[in-house]
Amino acid sequence: MVDAGNLLYKGRAVPEGERAEREAKARLIAETTPWGGIDAMLPARGEFALGRAFVEAVATEHKLPYVVSNLECGTPMAWPTVIESSKGGVNFAIYGVVSGELSVPACRASDPARALASAPAGDTVVIVLSDQEEAQDLALATAVPAIDFIVVADAASPFRVPEPLPNGGLRLSNGSRGKMLGVLSGQLLPGATAWRDAGTRAAKAAEVDSARERLSEVDRRIREAPDDKAKERLSRQREFWETRLAKLDAELAATVQSAGPAHEAQNELVALGDDVGEHARTHERVQAVKATLSEATPMTQGAVESGEPPPAYSGAFVGSEACAGCHPAETAQWKGTPHARAWASLEAVNRQFDADCWRCHATGAFSPEGPGEPRSLGGLVNVGCESCHGAGRDHMLSPAEKPLVVNPPASQCTQCHDKKQDDGRFNEATYRPKVVHSSP
Ligand code: HEC
Ligand code: HEC
Ligand code: HEC
Ligand code: HEC
Repeated sequence: MVDAGNLLYKGRAVPEGERAEREAKARLIAETTPWGGIDAMLPARGEFALGRAFVEAVATEHKLPYVVSNLECGTPMAWPTVIESSKGGVNFAIYGVVSGELSVPACRASDPARALASAPAGDTVVIVLSDQEEAQDLALATAVPAIDFIVVADAASPFRVPEPLPNGGLRLSNGSRGKMLGVLSGQLLPGATAWRDAGTRAAKAAEVDSARERLSEVDRRIREAPDDKAKERLSRQREFWETRLAKLDAELAATVQSAGPAHEAQNELVALGDDVGEHARTHERVQAVKATLSEATPMTQGAVESGEPPPAYSGAFVGSEACAGCHPAETAQWKGTPHARAWASLEAVNRQFDADCWRCHATGAFSPEGPGEPRSLGGLVNVGCESCHGAGRDHMLSPAEKPLVVNPPASQCTQCHDKKQDDGRFNEATYRPKVVHSSP
């Protein structure tokens, strides 16, 4: 298992009809994946948000196979800068590269090319788990020709086909939050230096075809244009497609250039729904880590660098208890809504300290003035009054002079009911009456 993303993930439901097929596929992969058995993970932003010392302690306790190559801290870190391994007669070297924007107290992300300067060239397959932006990945591949694959962490959408790297390697992504399992298989060809994914070239050729079609469509419309104004507008479109076609043509040509002797790769993405059985050993480890995170209750978790617990939040948001005395009716009604139980829903699945989850199940976290991390929430757990009405400290002190939003608009709701995390369930007409205090 090579994971460049987040250790903590949420499964996604898969249509009932596909269940058996998916299960069979997952089992097949577990049993036959030839490169299986090398464990490597990149701790990324979500993990480091919990503090370096804490992440290190958890990783050590649970033997997480973390690898970070370009993080320089005052003291040596608990995990290696490269994982070297050999499977089925093939040598692997796996590196982990964090983004320069990562902020870890007392540490600094160093130049990744320097960190990988001694990456073994030749027959060793060099894999880089990366939390960087695309341009930085491309620059890294140019600087370090030995790189075979860059696996992207936390991409918004997985690439169906790997993208070619300037050094002949491939860049691939399996999406984020563990929704997809990427299965990379390959065949090494003696003497070859580049990699070829059958899908990459076919996909590029299809893009060229479609750009060419769009261009001839614009040409047709220019011929039939009723007046000069329309012609002019269309000729700007024509320029766009011409430039795009030239770029795509060059990219396609680049895949032909590397069409000499090349290693064969194939990346397959398998959707991991709740229905796909867990890999027992990995699942056990993930559960153990989550349990450790959950035991570390707010205020007592010694995660920050100094070893001091994080300070309780004390800003513009005050928490729902502070409103109860003056607004008993609204409070009583709110307590009966799912918003008042939102934190318990996360606790029930041990995800309350998950960087991917806590914000929408707490109060004020979307505001720059709000709490910045889950351990300092205190009374701001749950979707409280201020999630809809705004920060209430000033109002509480002088209610008449500092009025709050009386009737929050739908845009307030859709910060959390974002059509993605809730699988598109939000419908203002049916949802609003369920949470307002007065009957509609
Ligand atoms: C800070 C994030 C947040 C905001 C803002 C928010 N919600 Fe929610 N809402 C949630 C969460 C999280 C849940 C799930 C609670 C649970 O069951 O654990 C939820 C649940 C609900 C439910 C219950 C759904 C069901 O049938 O189970 C309704 C209805 C609802 N919200 C309506 C609204 C409306 C209307 C607004 C805006 C006026 C709004 N919410 C604003 C986060 C939010
Ligand atoms: C973008 C905001 C957002 C994020 C991020 C988010 N949630 Fe929620 N969550 C919601 C909303 C909104 C609902 C209510 C959806 C509904 O019922 O319409 C909800 C409901 C839930 C529920 C209760 C009902 C259910 O659907 O099972 C659980 C459990 C839950 N979320 C867990 C999680 C976990 C675990 C994560 C992190 C992987 C997470 N949430 C991240 C907004 C969010
Ligand atoms: C999910 C969003 C949401 C949450 C959470 C929420 N409210 Fe409201 N609140 C509304 C909406 C919408 C209205 C306007 C419609 C209405 O009067 O019910 C409103 C109106 C009000 C009003 C004005 C009532 C009036 O008659 O003028 C008060 C006071 C109020 N809320 C207090 C609270 C308090 C206190 C809490 C927490 C215990 C709370 N609200 C939680 C959405 C919310
Ligand atoms: C000390 C008592 C007090 C506390 C505490 C208090 N309010 Fe109010 N609130 C009032 C009064 C009084 C009004 C009516 C003000 C007016 O009509 O001018 C009001 C009005 C409101 C309204 C209606 C809009 C408005 O401003 O006229 C909302 C919404 C509201 N409060 C939400 C909250 C929330 C949320 C909290 C907790 C963060 C809170 N209140 C805490 C006394 C209080």
